[in-house]
Amino acid sequence: MKRAKLRAPCMNILRQLTKRRNSEVFEKLQKLANQLKKRFAGKIGKIIVFINQKGGIGKTTLSHAFAYLLAKLGFAVLIIDIDPSGNISSNSEADRTDTPGVMELLLTTSKIDETIQYIEKYGYYVIAAPEGRQLESKDFIKMLDQTETPAMNLRNGTETLRDHFDFIIIDTGPNLNDATMNGLVAADEIIVPTTININSLDGIADLWDAVCSVRESGVNALPIRGILINRFNARGIADRETKDFIDQIAAALNAPVFSTYIRHAAIVERATKARQALTAFKEADNTPIIDDIYKFMEEYLKGENESVANKATTV
Ligand SMILES: Nc1ncnc2c1ncn2[C@@H]1O[C@H](COP(=O)(O)OP(=O)(O)OP(=O)(O)O)[C@@H](O)[C@H]1O
Ligand SMILES: [Mg+2]
Repeated sequence: MKRAKLRAPCMNILRQLTKRRNSEVFEKLQKLANQLKKRFAGKIGKIIVFINQKGGIGKTTLSHAFAYLLAKLGFAVLIIDIDPSGNISSNSEADRTDTPGVMELLLTTSKIDETIQYIEKYGYYVIAAPEGRQLESKDFIKMLDQTETPAMNLRNGTETLRDHFDFIIIDTGPNLNDATMNGLVAADEIIVPTTININSLDGIADLWDAVCSVRESGVNALPIRGILINRFNARGIADRETKDFIDQIAAALNAPVFSTYIRHAAIVERATKARQALTAFKEADNTPIIDDIYKFMEEYLKGENESVANKATTV
């Protein structure tokens, strides 16, 4: 009984401390974000694709959390949903039937401004995926192949968007089909989420080939900004195994690994079930996984500030 009495106030104090820590971290992020915005006369106009043809490793979860947090930091954000599951579209309560979306954009049957929806509750914009996993249907892929420039349609369609958005985030599905290739061709940089699991290396050579084919086409240099470790479980995995996996995936993609790892946390499934972006999910406030996401954002924004500053000194 005595213990229970002591515990309640202790928990309150702990909660208050964590709250203060989280709001301090958010303030730090806001400073980095403001610093970055000031470096640009207009919008930043950067297109980032989250890609890994392995299914269920967290592309949607992380791209959605990242996009929402960018919007919360005051950036103008657009999400282009080419994941056939369309989870970001449905969680954003975007219209996936009557308003033209990413399918019409890819098939060049709609103009870009007809496809963009403002999502008031999250403060960002979405180009939605259609209902019923149509983006991976044979009919759609066939129609896409019959357009004049099947791999370039998204890039061509989004040409004018850089003037209107700071960040354009593309979520992709568990394959490297023509729709996903459109995402790669349109992007300025790639983030590759992965879990630490030897099976996660399956098919990584195909992703590397796809990246190389875009680079060789001369359309863009397509840097891999980083490999983002997700569902990390520090206790369950021997250090050697983790290190080996990280070395292998970094070598296979010739790319850096973000120093922030996103832990495995049950709250993610709850946010998924509640159809919310993890960073917008109230129950997840002040949990360690939100610390991870904030830390990742800090790493990302610091990198952006540094690279813009370096470009300015070399010009
Ligand atoms: N860090 C995490 N901790 C716990 N569960 C997670 C974590 N990240 C993702 N998940 C869960 O894993 C499942 C798959 O995640 P998600 O849909 O983001 O993967 P995906 O790569 O987008 O899948 P697909 O390739 O099918 O589009 C979801 O149910 C999600 O809640
Ligand atoms: Mg997904």
